[in-house]
Amino acid sequence: MLFEHEIAWENDRVYEEVYRNSIDFPNEFWMQYAQDIEWKRIPNLAYDNEKKEWLSGGISNVCYNCVDRHADKIPEKAAIIWYGDEYGERREISYAKLQKMVIQISSILKGRGIKKNDVVGIYMPMIPEAIASMLACARIGAIHLVVFAGFSPEALKYRLTTSNAKALLTINSFRRGGKEIELAKNIPNELGIDIINLDNIQYHKNVIPDIDWQNSDDDLFILYTSGSSGKPKGVLHSALPYMLYVATTFKVIFGIQPDDVYFCTSDIGWITGHSYITYAPLFHGLTTVIFSGSPTYPEADRYWQIIEQEKVSIFYTAPTAIRSLQMFNKKIIKKHDLSSLRVLGTVGEPINKSAWKWYFETVGNKKCPIMDTWWQTETGGIILAPLRNINQKPGIAGKPFFGIETDIIEGELVIKNEFPGLYKAIVSECATADNALYKTGDGAVYEGSDIKIKGRMDDVINISGHRLGTAEFECAINKISEVQESAVVAVSDDLKGQTAFAFVVLTVTPERDDFAQIVKKIVSSTRNSIGSIAKPDYISFVPDLPKTRSGKIVRKLLRDIANGAENLPELHSVINSEVIDVLKVSVKNPIFCPDMCKLK
Ligand code: PRX
Repeated sequence: MLFEHEIAWENDRVYEEVYRNSIDFPNEFWMQYAQDIEWKRIPNLAYDNEKKEWLSGGISNVCYNCVDRHADKIPEKAAIIWYGDEYGERREISYAKLQKMVIQISSILKGRGIKKNDVVGIYMPMIPEAIASMLACARIGAIHLVVFAGFSPEALKYRLTTSNAKALLTINSFRRGGKEIELAKNIPNELGIDIINLDNIQYHKNVIPDIDWQNSDDDLFILYTSGSSGKPKGVLHSALPYMLYVATTFKVIFGIQPDDVYFCTSDIGWITGHSYITYAPLFHGLTTVIFSGSPTYPEADRYWQIIEQEKVSIFYTAPTAIRSLQMFNKKIIKKHDLSSLRVLGTVGEPINKSAWKWYFETVGNKKCPIMDTWWQTETGGIILAPLRNINQKPGIAGKPFFGIETDIIEGELVIKNEFPGLYKAIVSECATADNALYKTGDGAVYEGSDIKIKGRMDDVINISGHRLGTAEFECAINKISEVQESAVVAVSDDLKGQTAFAFVVLTVTPERDDFAQIVKKIVSSTRNSIGSIAKPDYISFVPDLPKTRSGKIVRKLLRDIANGAENLPELHSVINSEVIDVLKVSVKNPIFCPDMCKLK
């Protein structure tokens, strides 16, 4: 069943043939790709049904595969190229240098008593040291827990305490969008764990801690993401099965070549930054370009300038970024030579037709396929993508990856079989993954033989590709003394894809002027609980929320009302239906708070 990875994801006939084989002979399929991993002991088989374990019996190390083996063979090649906030701020980290950084950080961790299976938090911006910190954990078998640098002290603390972290790696500050962001100041004092500030550390030369060889199924990292509950959940991924899945999807779907220069604009605080900034590109010995600045500072050409300067061949970004850059004058993009681009990708949210068209025509000059990749924190790597040719249909994520059996049950996309990328457990809820049928929470439909994603069906909201739980907003809002209860729903937004709309019931009827105060409190409470990315853009103060006999808020109805749906379904389950007309009027004139983010 040998085939060239470059062509497997290009035409329908080849795709069908390889896909069938991968489903009929999963062991052969995955074992073929497991050969890309350098093993200390080769696994016996791809999936052990009895143990429910991938790559069972295998021994290797993820960091060894991403760094050390390349440091031997291609020491001078750039592993990471970093761009900072100002034009001209650039650092190039070769594989040899990256190995040195990783060894230094892992020996600091060992020196502080960190052992295999200890959880180590990483609270850092997009700098090479952040990636080196992740790899340093992987090297010694510690479990990394990256917390997005935009999350608040409270959100950071919740993640560190519920995962039982032993230490936190951080730096003092960084610059983004022309502003100094004092990161270390965000770290709560009373955490009671070892804070390791890499700015204040003395590195020692010549420290060579050994690689901790791991069983395939040992743990690699925890990453928190939002679900339907009021608290984010800690998703745990295992080491080598995850590595196999992200390395294989990357290789096949993007059709990588050894000299590709790859630029992904995500952040290590999200799963894309784990899978397709850090692990997959470095595993394959490519150059991964990272950027810690803002795409529009000092000018809105930062991505284009980096693509031109580095001759980037694969560019992977989010629909929100595309939509926001599309709004700027054409001249900004036209002054840059983007002819090095071969493949474009998007991830994180549905891409609308106009953004797709602009990406295809203006960025890719009609010669680059757009890989609209659908996946999740829980799946570790890409599940759906269109074939890599330029006859694509906008907004259709397309085909399941090899070895993945998808279905649509009651409108929801599900995965019916085991695959190596699926998370192992939810640490904060003590739950293990159910491999039998994984329900994605996303609505989907078939369009011919392709799958089109419609968006979340549960209480997860996707603001600019940032996944947040409506219940997390509600918990933050309900903390305010004047608030009796609240319900937050997603409404569509031209730029952000979705945004949060809060219906709020107050305990008192405030004076007119006091509303502004309450709005301020709501915005600062969501920002304190979650982070700067989270605030409701619309607030509507209402006398009551629609409820069922058992007291459950009927969110579907609120979602329809907030989105201005004309014909609301008859909902006999709502006991206080008289409130519906009041709600319909109130959403026509909500309090709009786009600039509230400037509030302290
Ligand atoms: O709703 C889907 C949306 O993002 C959710 C997963 O969010 P997260 O775990 O943060 O991972 C994002 C990066 C992989 C999904 O449930 N989503 C992701 N990619 C797409 C998408 N929606 C539509 N099209 C996509 N390509």
